[in-house]
Amino acid sequence: MVTSVGVIGLGVMGSALARNLARKGYNVTVYNRTHSKTDNFLRRYSHEGKFTKATSIKDVLCKLPTNKVVFLMLSAGAAVDLVSDELVLEVHKRLEGDNLAIIDGGNSFYKDTMARSEKYAEKGVEFIGLGISGGKDGALNGPSLMFGGSDRAWQWTHEILEKAAARDYHGRPCVSRLGPNGAGHFVKMVHNGIEYAIMGMIAEVFNLLRSVVGDRGLAVASDSLVEHQDLGGYLLELMRHVVRKRELGTGHPLVVDRIRDVAGHKGTGLWTCQAALELGYPVPSIQAAFEERAMSARTATRCTFSKALTISGMRNKPQAEGLMNRTYGALAIAIRQAFSQGLSLIFAASKKYSWDIDIKQCTRVWQGGCIIRMPLLREFEETEDTYGSAPDTTLTFTHQESYVKPKSGFTRTTIESTLSLPLEECEGETWWASSPRFRKIAFDKVRMLQLQDLVYNFMQAGIPCHVLSSTMNYITQMCKERMESISFIQAMRDGFGSHGFERIDQDGSYTLEWAIHAE
Ligand code: 6PG
Repeated sequence: MVTSVGVIGLGVMGSALARNLARKGYNVTVYNRTHSKTDNFLRRYSHEGKFTKATSIKDVLCKLPTNKVVFLMLSAGAAVDLVSDELVLEVHKRLEGDNLAIIDGGNSFYKDTMARSEKYAEKGVEFIGLGISGGKDGALNGPSLMFGGSDRAWQWTHEILEKAAARDYHGRPCVSRLGPNGAGHFVKMVHNGIEYAIMGMIAEVFNLLRSVVGDRGLAVASDSLVEHQDLGGYLLELMRHVVRKRELGTGHPLVVDRIRDVAGHKGTGLWTCQAALELGYPVPSIQAAFEERAMSARTATRCTFSKALTISGMRNKPQAEGLMNRTYGALAIAIRQAFSQGLSLIFAASKKYSWDIDIKQCTRVWQGGCIIRMPLLREFEETEDTYGSAPDTTLTFTHQESYVKPKSGFTRTTIESTLSLPLEECEGETWWASSPRFRKIAFDKVRMLQLQDLVYNFMQAGIPCHVLSSTMNYITQMCKERMESISFIQAMRDGFGSHGFERIDQDGSYTLEWAIHAE
């Protein structure tokens, strides 16, 4: 049984995790390159548990027993290589016979983790890529942990991780071995991508609601979003706090107005988009959210363009009537579709890298501790188990449509339609759709109409909604069996480059004679 662990890197996340582990009864050897940081840490927190100070990386190893478990809580990139190399070297040089497991708890790039796992495995060292979510509070009180590493490494370390982790809705630890090497960091990366998308959606809704209900109405509006049965969760809870936040000292309400409108990123959103494009599984909600941040950085251009064309106020203020209902429905469907994009991407990577990720476990470990935790993650618990074992070849959708049109009085239409999805063709990609509760909202016509109406409201108000509109377009596109526009593109490709095309009525590849004489 492991009773002592090392933590290297005492930044915000490292300090919080070291304290979490100490509170769970572990003897935690702590080290930071800047020694004063270690001293400060010990001065503040030594009363919370058993801590041992290390003055060098070698010292960390010397203070740990034969089976050494070391958490690296460093910024992603070169620091992880440097410290890991030194750890491995020291073990080989001086501590022959000792075992070492390195747990990289940073937001490392999954391909780096794959390479490191392979490199250190050759030297007999277990390298684990551990996605940790939940920010400082999560790391301290229970994060969501996404484990990527060998089975041996899991057997060796799971008890520590289970003690440190948050709990899911059934009281189980929010940690799971999702696969080998880069699997844990890949899932964490996608988690962050979904985080970007949901934050983008909420921020857009904030803008629209503010233009209609004003600052005074925002607190009540955000409360109702948190409390709505289809919504809720940590990020909407955060919205509630942001709209109420007053600046310390001045007491100025809505601190948002004083925050510069440029959002940076630390890489995971970009990597999610890159992985999606590489694997051919687009994630437009995440990409739009990332692009929004990129647009935010182009302040000077926005300033110039805003003088050339003033969009806001070109049309009417959206109607307040029914606005909250449209917002509930739009967010409910859009957030679920962002999850579905992310989960499909995890499926694609799992297939490509033979990780064999149980996607249901991803949604389970996200139930507690992490930034995207929200009640909807419970919906995945009730699946028809079409993925994995003896898949049913079809999945039946029944739409019950009842939509009340604003303005036109109380008109209710009920349309029932049933369609079958050939699941075997998409293999496990649509695993998430096999949950009846999730599917009911993610493919609900009424909520889709509400999303369309809400996007129209944004357009009316001249308020951008890149994330919500991209999500709406994704749903529109992916719920269309045939893409006529792509057939048209195929014709154009053949027209200018004789690229050829396939026909739907005959086998084989075709090309046409084109007599195009452009001026
Ligand atoms: C978490 C967060 C955390 C952080 C990321 C994203 O799960 O605890 O995702 O990892 O928010 O670093 O940060 P950026 O928005 O700066 O990319």
